[in-house]
Amino acid sequence: MPVFEKDAGAPTVTDETALPVGGIEAKQTPKDVLTGSDKRVKQSGGDNGAENPRTVAMVNQDLEEVMTRTMTLEDWHNKWRRGKTKFHMSKVHPSLQKFYDRLLQGKGRARVFVPMCGKTLDLKWLSDQGHAVVGNEVVEMACRQFFEEHDLQYTSERIEGVDGTVFKATDIDLQLFNCDFYKLTSDVIGSFDCIWDRGAMAAANPEDRDKYTEVVVSLLKPTGAYLLDLFELENTVFAGPPHGITDARVDELFASKCNIEVLMRADRLGDWQRSWGLDAFWEVVRLLTPKQT
Ligand SMILES: C[S@@+](CC[C@H](N)C(=O)[O-])C[C@H]1O[C@@H](n2cnc3c(N)ncnc32)[C@H](O)[C@@H]1O
Repeated sequence: MPVFEKDAGAPTVTDETALPVGGIEAKQTPKDVLTGSDKRVKQSGGDNGAENPRTVAMVNQDLEEVMTRTMTLEDWHNKWRRGKTKFHMSKVHPSLQKFYDRLLQGKGRARVFVPMCGKTLDLKWLSDQGHAVVGNEVVEMACRQFFEEHDLQYTSERIEGVDGTVFKATDIDLQLFNCDFYKLTSDVIGSFDCIWDRGAMAAANPEDRDKYTEVVVSLLKPTGAYLLDLFELENTVFAGPPHGITDARVDELFASKCNIEVLMRADRLGDWQRSWGLDAFWEVVRLLTPKQT
């Protein structure tokens, strides 16, 4: 039975819990979160430059008005450059610690993958538990900040077969693959006993979810386990990331390949999420294990 939490011990607002997956992929209907604060803006009306009274429907996490939910790699680079990384938590993620044993499934030393990892403290914590840890992050600055902030010496080399660099800690078994997640294959990065996914699938563009699923499942060993932290929210006025995702969509993406167990559904609505115009925000943690064929 999944654990149900009503904001119990939830990382409070400011941070950090938020980062999700895209649920509501249908049409976006503007609510009046913007009109309430008189944030309606007029957009230039195209080639003739005429004013078009089109209402900006959504904001992003930084409360900038946006016309699209799609984040390019350049957008992520810009976020890091501008220090707009409020998604970064100053502690290990509570859901990783809470469901660590379920993720490990009795394994002692595991090879653990953290996709789209930023500079999360979870990487170091997993390494401290004795595992071989591999992260992936497209922004080089994030990778370098991780090593510097943990005072870890590292080397770097080109990744074979993919455009990017692998940063390797010299004193512990921890590597960061600085490249586009969607280019990864098990030939490039190997396969994993465990995958911890927070703010990765949840941050991926909704239109990329099929591709995301294909890559992440291809990196999981047949005996592996995948701890997936997602969100349920209405991306009507809030563009994301995180992007909400429904049970039905998760099933559609994974059920043919994996067994899916919902471990926790927790109310994480806080002031930060309210500021995005949301009135509901749920963290849903699932454990996925490959179906034996
Ligand atoms: C919402 S942040 C979450 C970071 C981290 N998982 C955490 O919990 O702090 C998403 C991260 O994914 C990275 N990212 C986005 N698209 C990516 C891609 N295609 N390949 C690799 N990293 C990507 C971003 O640069 C960003 O650091």
